Amino acid sequence: MVVERTFLAIKPDGVQRGLIGEILGRFERKGFKLVALKQLIPSKELAEKHYGVHKERPFFGGLVDFITSGPVVAMVWEGDGVIASARNMIGATKPLEALPGTIRGDLAINIGRNVIHGSDGEETAKFEISLWFTLDELNDWNPSDQIWRVEQ
Ligand code: RTP
Ligand code: MG
Repeated sequence: MVVERTFLAIKPDGVQRGLIGEILGRFERKGFKLVALKQLIPSKELAEKHYGVHKERPFFGGLVDFITSGPVVAMVWEGDGVIASARNMIGATKPLEALPGTIRGDLAINIGRNVIHGSDGEETAKFEISLWFTLDELNDWNPSDQIWRVEQ
């Protein structure tokens, strides 16, 4: 079975505001499996590659400056449908339009300080996971309570 994986990152505002535990907890409680986790201050090169699709946009420079301004918590989560589900749990890009119950809807007000990043599709997820993590940083493991989440 091919298991779906997504790349999520708590942005510097989420780390500075002490929201790491709150955010990790939401994905843990949902039932997804954490397969990689690290904190790092991204280099300019990494940030520019990560947000490369936006390089012609007026906000690109500010976005790269922001994402490299402090520690980011980078993660890979695994599970059926995790890419789309994580995007739903994150909420709309503009936090004022994000529904209550979503991370941005509950915890943010500004588009440039929207707390968390999530891959927006299968190809993006593959690209971002390989950009932020080496293969040996991705852990294959079976949670002992897996049978309570997924029919065997
Ligand atoms: P992300 O990539 O960070 O998960 O966010 P997203 O998919 O919801 O939104 P995306 O369109 O990929 O934009 C990337 C980040 O750029 C900032 N942004 N600023 N000032 C603006 O008009 C503007 N538009 C986008 C946001 O911080 C957004 O998360
Ligand atoms: Mg995006």
